[in-house]
Amino acid sequence: MSRPVRVLVTGSAGQVGVDVVDSLGGRVPPGGRDGLPLDGRAVDHGEFEVLGLTHHDLDVSDRDAVHHALAASRPDVVVHLAAYTKVDAAQRDVRRCFAVNADGVGHVVDAASAVGAHVITISTDYVFDGRKGAAYVEDDLTNPQSVYGASKRAGEEWCSPEVTVVRASWIMGVRGTSVVHTMARRARDGQEVRFVTDQRGTVTASADLASALVALVRARPGGLWHVANDGDATWFDVAQHVGRVLGRGDDFAHPIRTSDLDPLPLAARPERSDLDTTKWRQHFAPLGPWRESVERLVTWEGAAR
Ligand SMILES: NC(=O)c1ccc[n+]([C@@H]2O[C@H](COP(=O)([O-])OP(=O)(O)OC[C@H]3O[C@@H](n4cnc5c(N)ncnc54)[C@H](OP(=O)(O)O)[C@@H]3O)[C@@H](O)[C@H]2O)c1
Repeated sequence: MSRPVRVLVTGSAGQVGVDVVDSLGGRVPPGGRDGLPLDGRAVDHGEFEVLGLTHHDLDVSDRDAVHHALAASRPDVVVHLAAYTKVDAAQRDVRRCFAVNADGVGHVVDAASAVGAHVITISTDYVFDGRKGAAYVEDDLTNPQSVYGASKRAGEEWCSPEVTVVRASWIMGVRGTSVVHTMARRARDGQEVRFVTDQRGTVTASADLASALVALVRARPGGLWHVANDGDATWFDVAQHVGRVLGRGDDFAHPIRTSDLDPLPLAARPERSDLDTTKWRQHFAPLGPWRESVERLVTWEGAAR
């Protein structure tokens, strides 16, 4: 029998990290879809040996620490999820944000190259300015509008074509801190919410992304990939759907414009940055409609309360 594929996961305690560790272990993450990974192959017992490193275990902005960790563990694949993800705080924390999201990718890519490991890293729709007027494909021009978006684009630029760069957007998982949890809590508590209609994007359920990452760990394709659930939405659409799933009427979610927010967010968000996932769907199974994934997510949370 061949030895397991050794996969090192950075940021393994984060929203996507916990789901990827589950999926590579052959477990369906909370709120995930039962069934096979998106390449149609079940995870065999012992197929993967997973080494999860949390922020506490490894600071990816520390070049020497990254090289030491990879030289010591000699993974076949690195799933690089560690990132500075506080989009508004990043506007005032530029140096730290770039140290993690740009330099950190560079350290991981260099260290992986030294041990012959394939790297899969996650980027974002916030590398785009949102002015295209249509869904973004992989080779569209980037033009980030925020420090976070610029730092993630700088991270992409560290990656040669052999590195697999997954752009996802609006990631939400049962064990994450996404705004969908706020929506669900307010729906259950009988409160109302206001969400914007002038930010359109694609939802990516963390459990579905984890399933996609299992397929990519096996395929190691390299290049840019847009990965998200099917269909686009505004944040108002997501809130309205969460309300309906949890039995609230149309009085739950109220539409507003970004300019109505008080205070205004520090970081600009693209107005329309939905990801075109055609390339993904030509090679793998689709992640499925966003409404189904959001329903599983909020009902799982409800069941756990
Ligand atoms: N969330 C989204 O909507 C979204 C959208 C598109 C792309 N992405 C990308 O998807 C990836 C996974 O995001 P996520 O949603 O899982 O975010 P997350 O829940 O914030 O997880 C990121 C993890 O990275 C850790 N981390 C932060 N700085 C670090 C450092 N210097 N060294 C090592 N670890 C560090 C964090 O630990 P601490 O919390 O302890 O600092 C956290 O566990 C990231 O690359 C992110 O940029 C996210």
